[in-house]
Amino acid sequence: MDIVTRYGPWAVIAGASAGMGAAWADEVAAQGINLVTIARRGELLEADADRLRRTHAIEVRPVATDLAGEDIADVVRRAVDDIDVGLFVYNAAVAPAGSFFTVPIEEHLMNVRVNCVAPTVLTHVLGPPMIARGRGGIALVGSIGALQGGEVFASYFAAKAYEWILAEGIWAELRGTGVDVVAYMLGATSGDNYEHPRETRSIDVEQLEPAVREAMEGVLNPLTSREVAAGLFERLADGPTVYSSAYNERVARSIFGMSRREAVERMSAVTTLSWS
Ligand SMILES: NC(=O)c1ccc[n+]([C@@H]2O[C@H](COP(=O)([O-])OP(=O)(O)OC[C@H]3O[C@@H](n4cnc5c(N)ncnc54)[C@H](OP(=O)(O)O)[C@@H]3O)[C@@H](O)[C@H]2O)c1
Repeated sequence: MDIVTRYGPWAVIAGASAGMGAAWADEVAAQGINLVTIARRGELLEADADRLRRTHAIEVRPVATDLAGEDIADVVRRAVDDIDVGLFVYNAAVAPAGSFFTVPIEEHLMNVRVNCVAPTVLTHVLGPPMIARGRGGIALVGSIGALQGGEVFASYFAAKAYEWILAEGIWAELRGTGVDVVAYMLGATSGDNYEHPRETRSIDVEQLEPAVREAMEGVLNPLTSREVAAGLFERLADGPTVYSSAYNERVARSIFGMSRREAVERMSAVTTLSWS
């Protein structure tokens, strides 16, 4: 079955206005699948929509809305009311950075709404029609930060852990239905929201202990959003969990072999060196 038949004719991408989200939109549009793009910055969505319509001769519906809004299920239901959605990519995320107790509680709660509540609600809205027709794909964009706790991003890593495990559970439920579900786990990826540590400080990796050095290599050498998005259609059927690179998969496997203490301390060394 070709990609449009399997995952088209429409896709919904939540968090599509910048960086990784815009790269997913390019990748999906290049296959000839029409798009509903969601983010708050409508002007960015509109500009991308014009470009994608011209370049790929597809239809694009930009939906400027806040995924943290209480009415998000209805907003998305209305946007897809008359179309057949065969692919859902939940890319949006917020990542409050800093000590857990100095970050305002509103930011932690926004993290829960955008990273946990919205992917749950939208998967619940968009999944059933896919199940009914026996075709489709759902990708929740995850992070290897979800594999352990860590300083600086305590609530973000916790929220991404929820999203990861949610994807795995839905994958298990939908095996055999024709609907592919995957947690697409990213490591450091350059994009609008990624502050490249190499530009902000110089880290002498040679001074680091080997486990921290291995993890720091990914932070200092992020993949580009385009490189990560290019793997989407090859990986959709490889759930429950896939990684954006062989390096990230190696890092994940090494985390699974560590004690929880080692894993949390290693991640904390990386986040405090890079982001605090
Ligand atoms: N970049 C990395 O190094 C990295 C590493 C591991 C995992 N990831 C994961 O990869 C995904 C993309 O991350 P990114 O850092 O590259 O971000 P991004 O794709 O550059 O931007 C995040 C997107 O989410 C949208 N968004 C955020 N809050 C929203 C809200 N309340 N309502 C509607 N849209 C909202 C933003 O649009 P507006 O601002 O226009 O609303 C933007 O389009 C995330 O799931 C992240 O957890 C990224």
